[in-house]
Amino acid sequence: MSQADINAVIEQFRMAAHRSLQAGFDGIELHAAHGHLLHQFLSPLSNQRTDTYGGSLENRVRLIQEVLGAIRTEVGINYPVQLRVSASDFADGGLTPAEVALALTYLESELDAVHVSSGGLVPAAPLATPEGYQTPYAAVIKQYVKIPVIAVGNIRTQTFANFILADEIADMIAIGRPLLEDASFGEKMLSLA
Ligand SMILES: Cc1cc2nc3c(=O)[nH]c(=O)nc-3n(C[C@H](O)[C@H](O)[C@H](O)COP(=O)(O)O)c2cc1C
Repeated sequence: MSQADINAVIEQFRMAAHRSLQAGFDGIELHAAHGHLLHQFLSPLSNQRTDTYGGSLENRVRLIQEVLGAIRTEVGINYPVQLRVSASDFADGGLTPAEVALALTYLESELDAVHVSSGGLVPAAPLATPEGYQTPYAAVIKQYVKIPVIAVGNIRTQTFANFILADEIADMIAIGRPLLEDASFGEKMLSLA
């Protein structure tokens, strides 16, 4: 991508934030995980650039910083903006939870929360995906940042979700497949509270 291409992408994110506000959404999750473009810039596996967007962590995080800055010019400081990250590329030379945590220290002043997922950049996966398989990555990141950390990934019971919160492994829980399987999953959890 040329600098002009990069500028165009930043502008497109700004316009998307504008449309999000117009559409009445309550917040934005900026996707820097799962192999999407912002993840490709962040990971040394995919970012082979030799300009100010490549090489050091400070450079690889720059596009996310600039996109966040553009989003904030649209939505202001009081509108929730969180970032989804892949905490591991599951490959030698790829992102690790500690490096992603360091990257977040450059970004957290513009963020309300970080949502910790993993993988998706290269065809590599964790050996297993047991209950809470990504929660340890959230725990590492929580050691480095002050913003709320969201854990996700095979969290299916209220007991386990409460354990994550009570032990301060993460600050919030995201769920995906349980809601596809049972649209009233959230209500059922609340009724158990
Ligand atoms: C059918 C399906 C589609 C998904 N699509 C996306 C997606 O577009 N973007 C994304 O960030 N995650 C996506 N995910 C991943 C979920 O956001 C979530 O991280 C993952 O399912 C693990 O959480 P869970 O065990 O509660 O389902 C998808 C998951 C499923 C099952």
